[in-house]
Amino acid sequence: MDIKSRIAAWLAETLTAFDAKLPTEQVRALLEVPPDPAMGDYAFPCFLLAKQLRKAPPLIAQALCEKLTSPELAEARPVGGYVNFHINRANLAQEVIGAVLAAPDAYGSTTQGAGKTICLDYSSINIAKRFHIGHLSTTMIGHSLRRLYDYLGYQTVSINHLGDWGTQFGKMICAYKHWGSKQEVEAGGIDAMTALYVRFHDEAANNPTLEDEGRAWFKRIEEGDAEALEIFNWFKELTLRDAARVYDLLGVSFDSYAGESFFNDKMDRPVAELRNKGLLQESDGAQVVDLEAYGMPPCLILKQDGATLYATRDVAAALYRKDTYDFDKCLYVVAYHQDLHFRQFFKVIELMGYPWHKDLEHVSFGMVSYEGQSLSTRKGHVVYLEEALLRAIEKAEAIIAEKSPGLEARTEAARQIGVGAVVYAALQNNRIKDIDFWWDRALNFDGETAPYVQYTHARCCSLLRKATDDSARMAQPDWTGLTDEEARQVLLLISRFPDVLQEAVARNEPSMVTRHVTLLAQAYNKFYYEHRILDGAPGVATARIKLTEAVRAVIKTGLYLIGIEAPERM
Ligand code: ARG
Repeated sequence: MDIKSRIAAWLAETLTAFDAKLPTEQVRALLEVPPDPAMGDYAFPCFLLAKQLRKAPPLIAQALCEKLTSPELAEARPVGGYVNFHINRANLAQEVIGAVLAAPDAYGSTTQGAGKTICLDYSSINIAKRFHIGHLSTTMIGHSLRRLYDYLGYQTVSINHLGDWGTQFGKMICAYKHWGSKQEVEAGGIDAMTALYVRFHDEAANNPTLEDEGRAWFKRIEEGDAEALEIFNWFKELTLRDAARVYDLLGVSFDSYAGESFFNDKMDRPVAELRNKGLLQESDGAQVVDLEAYGMPPCLILKQDGATLYATRDVAAALYRKDTYDFDKCLYVVAYHQDLHFRQFFKVIELMGYPWHKDLEHVSFGMVSYEGQSLSTRKGHVVYLEEALLRAIEKAEAIIAEKSPGLEARTEAARQIGVGAVVYAALQNNRIKDIDFWWDRALNFDGETAPYVQYTHARCCSLLRKATDDSARMAQPDWTGLTDEEARQVLLLISRFPDVLQEAVARNEPSMVTRHVTLLAQAYNKFYYEHRILDGAPGVATARIKLTEAVRAVIKTGLYLIGIEAPERM
């Protein structure tokens, strides 16, 4: 049982003496962390009890404080309608460190998700487009959520819902047939495909029959024509080969790449179902689901020519995922500019009568701009993700060469640090906030950054290496060595880590983990500067080494959960 649950237990026990009924679980949920640490480690608000006990909250707080006793309690003080607790610090140290070191790689993990499946749709890149920094958030928020859900015992399915369907691919094939060459596209990859697409538009301006040709090629893809599919699949392969380099750098992988074109032969069911349920209406020759009653524009299902749309494919994909994975939740990590699309298509699923519409969730996030301007490939305001990662790695290499030239595994460390710096920038703030990408900020390694947190982890590792041959480690820990204010801050942060994971998952908000590991690194560094760790009295040194061991484990886990590696030496 963690410290918070035990506080809740003896509080609930004390409350029975007042004839107040509040189950331990509820008491635990009510416990707050006071804004000013000097006020206490936890605070219990008495407002909820006022009605039950017919007494003013401050009086209840007062009475509770007089009754509370526990060896774990150092002090309880009434403040307004709150009881503020100070936990016995030596006790806190022993409990918190014991909990981490009992299973250092599993601290905060649970089995609450056993038997439940979460589908996560993220990254979902488009064919023939290069990965740019605008794709970093969806990729890393999704990746981090996947790890968080895994850590809490859920079964996860990560899906890259490829944008691999649309008339533009017909145009691209048409351009390739006219002006392209196998070698050129093979060598140039996405850039060559983009050039073909641009050429198509230039030429079509004077030669409108090209548009018809493009449409015809697209139809051939849809109908499964061998030649069309061969070229299209090759374009796809080239795009994915490019993306794979970025995914490898980021350590990201997917269980499924079933994207829009995967549903080409699965469109009949949703369309027939919509029609049979009387949901389709004609509008200017197109088929739509009217959503006016819900304050939304109609959801387009079929175009005049019978072609399906993005939303139709998402309806099909949702049905398919429910059938295939029987998910308990299906998350879509997509920027907020698609907010309306998701609200519309979730509503369509609801109108189709599927109760699991409530398990579909749009995990939206802010837009990325580049040095104050919106991203635009056309205007050259774009930073390719691979370039950003490689530049950060280069900078990390330069710093290592200067500061720790003797470091073994330098290339590996530089990759971990450089990639970490960029990833951290994407997961630092609440996901809904817009991000403005600046080179100097992404390449900043000081202050609140991944390298700073990673460095703290490496510092812990280095201390622990020194301590292995130290006899101090062998002494019985003297927990009174961890009753100072700096140690207390570290211990409280560690003790709250499991709750932070719970909240991060409840809100689908990885930045909560980022913030918490950063606070922990800062608190530990403060402790490190104020106290000698290896050469105190033997028992005290042992306690401080154990604290260091716990910090190292929690930072490593926290970084892992946001997709950042933790080098042991830097
Ligand atoms: N490929 C789309 C885009 O880049 C994102 C797809 C998101 N997933 C989905 N099921 N709609 O905008």
